[in-house]
Amino acid sequence: MSSNGTTVPEAYPMNGGDGAYSYTKNSNCQRAAANVSKSLLDDAIAEKLDVEDFSCNPSNAFRIADLGCSVGPNTFFSVQNILEAVKHKYQSQRISSQMPEFQVFFSDHVANDFNTLFASLPPERQYFAAGVPGSFHGQLFPKSSLHFVHSSYAAHWLSKVPEQVVDKNSPAWNKGKIYYTTSPDEVVDAYAAQFGKDMAAFLEARAKELVVGGMMVIIMQAIPNGTPPSRIPNGIMFDFLGSTLMEIAKEGLISEGEVDSFNIPTYNTTPKEMMEVIERNGCFSIARIESTSPWLKAGHMINGPGLTMQLRAGMEGVFKAHFGTEITDQMFDRVYEKSGELIQKIESSCKEGTQLFLALKRK
Ligand SMILES: C[S@@+](CC[C@H](N)C(=O)[O-])C[C@H]1O[C@@H](n2cnc3c(N)ncnc32)[C@H](O)[C@@H]1O
Repeated sequence: MSSNGTTVPEAYPMNGGDGAYSYTKNSNCQRAAANVSKSLLDDAIAEKLDVEDFSCNPSNAFRIADLGCSVGPNTFFSVQNILEAVKHKYQSQRISSQMPEFQVFFSDHVANDFNTLFASLPPERQYFAAGVPGSFHGQLFPKSSLHFVHSSYAAHWLSKVPEQVVDKNSPAWNKGKIYYTTSPDEVVDAYAAQFGKDMAAFLEARAKELVVGGMMVIIMQAIPNGTPPSRIPNGIMFDFLGSTLMEIAKEGLISEGEVDSFNIPTYNTTPKEMMEVIERNGCFSIARIESTSPWLKAGHMINGPGLTMQLRAGMEGVFKAHFGTEITDQMFDRVYEKSGELIQKIESSCKEGTQLFLALKRK
């Protein structure tokens, strides 16, 4: 039990290994997210990264960190994109003679399945690989040691469930719900405040680790300014999981109190909120900020059962820690059965601008 009275752990790794419900086999949605951002990433590096600034680096190593890398294969794909774009930049700035050696740090929570990650490192990779365990809400690398930070589909995870939403005496108590999709403003505000604190800590740590002129690309779940959370696909999906749990509670297999004390620790930020927190931090300039729509590009490829498998690979661990294996299996089995209904709800949702691409430069 954590200090805020829930059993939601403060590290929520994706499913490891390579079994049927593994993240390795069920991460197409996150791959689609990286795909829609590839050209934005290439452009940001081509237009805004000044590799000449780094050429006086005595070890001549270019250091990249992927934060919240999980188990692959998406992280390898993203790292390869970055590497090629940076090499291209050296060539276009006519300093290929100083082409650096590359070192890549794959970083995630300690509980991440690093064994699966390392066992599947691309054999033909042109970089030195290392693993760095720990939370990205704190400093993970020495001062001014990184040239490029990448984080895809991870920065929307909160460091913890906001305390007020599981406090019966708080106006933000999220009774009968597991997410803020259709909750009162107080609940949404508590989530927003937690995200604000977490993102401030994230930026503070990266400001220390990145060299001046270094770049950071963050790709994360988001919501367009002014859109209610009940309109976006992941708000709908999490609400669907919540009502399935309430259905199980009504049948007496768990208590309603168990549902009340569980909340999903992720938050969909708006472009406006992100710009405000970056401005407050003051160490980064915004090279590019762009809302993207992976659901519009990849949504048609996703069917109900496939979507349930993806949801399960990413979220099962958080649910199991609170509800145990049996109830979690039952919940996902029920959602699988009703996945046609879920897809229908998502069909009518707002799929535009559900992801944010940010390229920041360390001032
Ligand atoms: C959906 S996966 C994304 C993995 C990969 N970047 C991709 O795009 O496929 C999110 C990852 O973020 C990691 N994560 C969440 N919060 C974290 C934190 N505070 N510190 C480090 N990793 C974190 C999780 O453990 C998980 O592996």
